[in-house]
Amino acid sequence: MSEISERLMRLQPSATRAMSERAGHLRSKGRDIISLSTGEPDFISPDAAMDAARTALDEGRTFYTPTAGIPELRQAISDYYADQFDLQYESAEIMVGAGAKPLLFEAFAALLNPGDEVVLTAPAWVSYVEQIRFFDGTPVIVETDPQTLDFDLGQIRAAITEKTRAIVLNSPNNPSGRVYADEDIAALCQLAIEHDLTLINDEVYERILFDGVRYRNPVTICPEARDYVLNINAVSKTYAMTGWRIGFAAGPQQLIKRMTMLQGHVTSGASSVAQWAALGAMRDGQAAVEKMAAEYQARKDLITSLMAPMPHIRYIPPQGAFYIFADIRGTIGKRIGDMTITDDMSFCDALLEHADLALVPGTAFLQPGFVRLSFATSRDIIRTAMARLDDFLSKLQG
Ligand SMILES: Cc1ncc(COP(=O)(O)O)c(C=O)c1O
Repeated sequence: MSEISERLMRLQPSATRAMSERAGHLRSKGRDIISLSTGEPDFISPDAAMDAARTALDEGRTFYTPTAGIPELRQAISDYYADQFDLQYESAEIMVGAGAKPLLFEAFAALLNPGDEVVLTAPAWVSYVEQIRFFDGTPVIVETDPQTLDFDLGQIRAAITEKTRAIVLNSPNNPSGRVYADEDIAALCQLAIEHDLTLINDEVYERILFDGVRYRNPVTICPEARDYVLNINAVSKTYAMTGWRIGFAAGPQQLIKRMTMLQGHVTSGASSVAQWAALGAMRDGQAAVEKMAAEYQARKDLITSLMAPMPHIRYIPPQGAFYIFADIRGTIGKRIGDMTITDDMSFCDALLEHADLALVPGTAFLQPGFVRLSFATSRDIIRTAMARLDDFLSKLQG
């Protein structure tokens, strides 16, 4: 066999997937592992999606679709941006892809030449970094305040050079759960305009919000930035449709056109039946979205109330998404059995070994000293998992 390319040899596996697989492996050996490591809703997709998919099959919608997506779905996305964010995007400014992930890949492909830089704030979802590197771009990571996990605009400004092509914004944030303030988003928009950059706005968690916190699209906040913002969204998290693989992008027409051209050579477009299912969900699945959002709120309240009294760890209550990003630096140097916690990775190893609980180390999100817990799981599982975590923390010595 010929050698694998340097580009692919550089690629790191997804740490969240690696942890889920490790948990699965231990489970197959009979261990009663609870995994709070996956970033995936535990709900089955809404009936509206299922019914639309069945109808699409009955109607024989089994052919290639237009590369940018079926016109009906692009129109529904346009209507959604008008209703939800008061924004007017025409069909030519919208494309559908096989999830948010490939659309981000296409966006980096469209924007980056070798050596170009993309500014990201830590903690950051790890696929951005791998995708940027894949195109020989350089991810420039701006640290956030570990107390608040909020970014500092001065530091973002300082990170911009003549090679910067884009800034990535992810609010609600995976893994921190932060929903950034309107004035910070407005300032990012101004930076994009000033330096002629694209603000890649990954808003896949925009409908999962807590305690009355509101999410506003950057273009709603700063209309003059419209030509500089590329919105990346998906039905994956909002409608519990991860496995259907449908995402969408709304942004400058030329960028969408180039991304679509690339898509034409890679997937030829997203799955036809899945697009019809997504359309069903967007048209008739809003009540299901509200119901799931209410359940996430109850889970967030439960997990934060159970974690609050625990020793050695600290967290900032999430405002959106379904994660808690906990600071475990207070456990460093402590021991359990013959294991010593030296960092977030050894914390996760010891927790898996001694408490049968799988979490993702913050290092996977470029933020060592933290761990990510997903609460996209039932309240019963959350209670059991938190009892295990509490027991583990109280047994730490030293
Ligand atoms: C911040 C963020 N963006 C994008 C994605 C990818 O979404 P999709 O499943 O639609 O590709 C995820 C999924 O984990 C995510 O957390």
